[in-house]
Amino acid sequence: MRKKIIAGNWKMNQTLEEGKILTSEVVNMGKDELRDDVQVVLCAPFVHLTTLQAMLTDSSIALGAQNCSNHASGAYTGEISVAMLKSVGTEYVILGHSERREYFGEMDSLLAEKIDITLEHSLTPIFCCGEPLVVREKDEQLAYVQSQIEKSLFHLSAEDFSKIVIAYEPIWAIGTGKTATSDQAQEMHAAIRKQITDQYGEEVANGISILYGGSMKPGNAEELLSCLDVDGGLIGGASLKSRDFVDIAKSF
Ligand code: PGA
Repeated sequence: MRKKIIAGNWKMNQTLEEGKILTSEVVNMGKDELRDDVQVVLCAPFVHLTTLQAMLTDSSIALGAQNCSNHASGAYTGEISVAMLKSVGTEYVILGHSERREYFGEMDSLLAEKIDITLEHSLTPIFCCGEPLVVREKDEQLAYVQSQIEKSLFHLSAEDFSKIVIAYEPIWAIGTGKTATSDQAQEMHAAIRKQITDQYGEEVANGISILYGGSMKPGNAEELLSCLDVDGGLIGGASLKSRDFVDIAKSF
């Protein structure tokens, strides 16, 4: 059985006070409403992690970050290391989000280094991939996404590869209100799983959770999450509303 995961990506939103309110709402609703077999993750800004960790100790909700350094430690002003993330109870880290790729120039090779260092420190990377609209319009999305996966992940051993989570996020659907249809999502997720099967075999491929991201909300979550190869969601905008976020997590 693959792990079902609903991860909230707060991006650069929420002051500490706002984040505390949002978290306590999710924790309180979650107590009665969340299913045991769905792992909920809150990927919050770095400065909130310590506070949130204390708030999440008695819940099954896990803590995640949105980025980390590719270096272990040292003279890298402004950067955050995986050891720091671990030391405040972080279990997941989003890597390669399209906003990091586009606005901060993160390349496949840098992401490969970040993947390695998170695995060395037993953090679970949520590796994001996804095509821009121009690529989708040329119907070249499968090759585009498979190239991202190959370049950043296929140096891993089968054992290490089994520890990662993949999030397919078509860039044209992120924060735009446009969602991939369930057919488009399933087609891509199945293609990714086939690619993993070819590289690492069926056992590894069948164990990897592949999340969909891009304007997932309560109204479309059930249909997307019912796809055979969609194992969860990476939720941006809707994760900032506790009711919507919990409702999405209940949509499996
Ligand atoms: P969205 O963002 O749900 O607001 O489209 C998803 C993401 O960027 O992870």
